[in-house]
Amino acid sequence: MAEPTAPSTARMIDFWLGGSDHFPVDVAAAGAFEQAYGPCAPVFRSLRAFLGRAVRHIADAGVDSFLVFGAGVPTCGNVHEVVPEATVLYTDVDPVAVEVGRRLLAGHERVGYALADATDVGGVDPALWARYLPGWGERPVGLVFLGLAAFLDDDTLARTLDGLYEAVAPGSRLAVDFDTEELAGYPQALAMMGPAFRMRAPESFPRLLGRWQPTADGIVPVARWRPSGTPEAVPDAFHGAVAVKPVG
Ligand SMILES: C[S@@+](CC[C@H](N)C(=O)[O-])C[C@H]1O[C@@H](n2cnc3c(N)ncnc32)[C@H](O)[C@@H]1O
Repeated sequence: MAEPTAPSTARMIDFWLGGSDHFPVDVAAAGAFEQAYGPCAPVFRSLRAFLGRAVRHIADAGVDSFLVFGAGVPTCGNVHEVVPEATVLYTDVDPVAVEVGRRLLAGHERVGYALADATDVGGVDPALWARYLPGWGERPVGLVFLGLAAFLDDDTLARTLDGLYEAVAPGSRLAVDFDTEELAGYPQALAMMGPAFRMRAPESFPRLLGRWQPTADGIVPVARWRPSGTPEAVPDAFHGAVAVKPVG
């Protein structure tokens, strides 16, 4: 694979999580970001732990297939590692993420990786859909929409989440997060995220979730979503929730 010349946020996260699927350009960008913001590894470890708790919670509700959007690098406690009993289809719009992901997942019978824009997954190969998301629209699925909201404007995000709500079977669940206004206090770091990066106030998010109903755990800092012990002491950079399409 040709070495990428531009960094990717997903591979920077892999670096911060202690993974091995990133390139020098990602390490350089991660270092520059930390100069402007501060240590990131604890923040992303906490965010990945939220993924683990949310996905396990969804599986414990009886869901055994997952569709992951903007998946990035599928390691370091990612969905198929949390629920090895489930089938998982990872998707990302970045061809490098797909190539890296397919290499990492070679030999995993229950896990696939497809190129797809989260705002329009209609182009995904129907054979992959049938294999990893059997009974789509009739059986509940888990949707994992993490690390992605910041890259979508409000209208696109709300339309995408509502389209998914319409498409999935009742009983389906959505794990979702968004960037808070934490980076507003770090203008240099914020500038590195580019002009399209979106931070959100927590009170703005229920409207974007639309018909999806958050569980009683609410929309909270990710470290405080069903913590398994004392929540990690990290900045409230991300809030998250699990939301449900109710049955009946
Ligand atoms: C910040 S990374 C998050 C990766 C991973 N979900 C995680 O939480 O560690 C954002 C990922 O979203 C992908 N992405 C951005 N816009 C997207 C879109 N419209 N559709 C699908 N993926 C997208 C990027 O390529 C990148 O891999």
